[in-house]
Amino acid sequence: MTKIDFNTVINRRNSGSVKWDDADLLYGAKDVLPLWVADTDFPAPQAVLDALQARVAHGVFGYPSPRFLGFEALAGWLKQRHSWETKPEWMVNSPGVVTALSIAVQTLTAPGDKVIIQPPVYPHFFSAVLQNSRTVVENSLIPEDGRYRIDFDDLARKAADAKLLILCSPHNPVGRVWTAAELKKLAEIALSNNLIILSDEIHSDLVYPGHRHTPLASLGEDIARITVTCVAPSKTFNIAGLYTSAVVISDTALRKRFADVIQALSLTKSNVFGSAALEAAYKHGGPWLEQLLPFLAANAAYLVERFSRETPKIKVNLPEGTFLAWLDCRALGLNNDALSDFFAKEARVGLNRGYSFGAQGSGFMRLNFGCSRAVLTEAIDRITRAYQDRGF
Ligand SMILES: Cc1ncc(COP(=O)(O)O)c(C=O)c1O
Repeated sequence: MTKIDFNTVINRRNSGSVKWDDADLLYGAKDVLPLWVADTDFPAPQAVLDALQARVAHGVFGYPSPRFLGFEALAGWLKQRHSWETKPEWMVNSPGVVTALSIAVQTLTAPGDKVIIQPPVYPHFFSAVLQNSRTVVENSLIPEDGRYRIDFDDLARKAADAKLLILCSPHNPVGRVWTAAELKKLAEIALSNNLIILSDEIHSDLVYPGHRHTPLASLGEDIARITVTCVAPSKTFNIAGLYTSAVVISDTALRKRFADVIQALSLTKSNVFGSAALEAAYKHGGPWLEQLLPFLAANAAYLVERFSRETPKIKVNLPEGTFLAWLDCRALGLNNDALSDFFAKEARVGLNRGYSFGAQGSGFMRLNFGCSRAVLTEAIDRITRAYQDRGF
């Protein structure tokens, strides 16, 4: 395969991109370099572009048959990359993972029920629970020298009267790739408390050397029976705008409960472009991903090295997975509003505010390094300059 140059900068301004076109408005400053929302700046693999172009060239975009969702390709991918044996009939399509999270909350719990999440965590985990009138129960992750672990004792206590646990695996924003041992321990707590696990594995393909993603449901039939897994090609291949994802549920009764709600909302419908892209990505995207991963790992190493040398009060560890870095800025001594203003208005970089991931994220910022080295360099240059100007 030809070498892919992930450093080619494609101008995303005026492309209708939330990351690039809404940054100035959102951050209240001019010329903000956006490293926030979790998409990357890279074009999709050529195989995906070819599949989409072929679909456009066909010219007719009538209703698709549900037999053409690309689930055979997804099953092949899960087996090959994650050693997880699944069947296409276990899969239900959903526009995006966030939609699937909300539907799972509606399906698997009743209003008022307790749903456990593990903050700091992706903000939509909070909203999927709260906007559906359920109760958030926080099983906070424990930071140890910047590496987070699960508080199993607290989880065991809280599992007793909760109905559902939403797991982020790998974890956004802290970058942990949970080990098989950690996942087994978590699943044992769920099994002994009749807790269903909604496992959001959207970041599962983006894992760095030395770490391995374990699909929760691959750990045994008893665990699979209580697991609802969300997967998508959107982060891996940068096709989030196509809104095509899948939910994998091996247990027939559990799947029926989920599928009935998808049916009732008329969300069974798929999008011809999303399905074509998903199938091409999972069939042919492996070699492209093999080139993306070292590029992202090098970006991560570069940013960790520069922050530790040039802005030592901003602490950041290498993530085990994801293209997200979790910056511990507490030593700057700024409150959350002042911290946001420092990055947006003084450094003019658009990062995610840590406290949007829960109170545990106060004093932190999240930086998306899924960009060219030139953009990353410019962002760190800007942060370093603002840091020096402030005399931190
Ligand atoms: C853990 C997690 N789940 C879901 C999503 C978004 O999923 P979708 O765009 O398919 O709704 C993200 C995006 O950042 C995420 O980090």
